[in-house]
Amino acid sequence: MDQQQPEVTIKAVDSGPYQVKGPVRLVDHDGKVFDIPARRSVLLCRCGRSATKPLCDGAHARTGFQAHERA
Ligand code: FES
Repeated sequence: MDQQQPEVTIKAVDSGPYQVKGPVRLVDHDGKVFDIPARRSVLLCRCGRSATKPLCDGAHARTGFQAHERA
């Protein structure tokens, strides 16, 4: 069994964003690059209501977004 940790971890937060833990490079729709270093994370909107897409701005909580899917 491989004991190495994956370099990138993506966690689906219940009724919230995807938490992506780096190192990872995020490129937005305008081509702006965000380099997320190791052990740092970024929250990506999955409710579609953020004013700062692709980043989560907390709108999911204010608007009652519900997502309890399980992989
Ligand atoms: S998931 Fe947080 S604003 Fe969309």
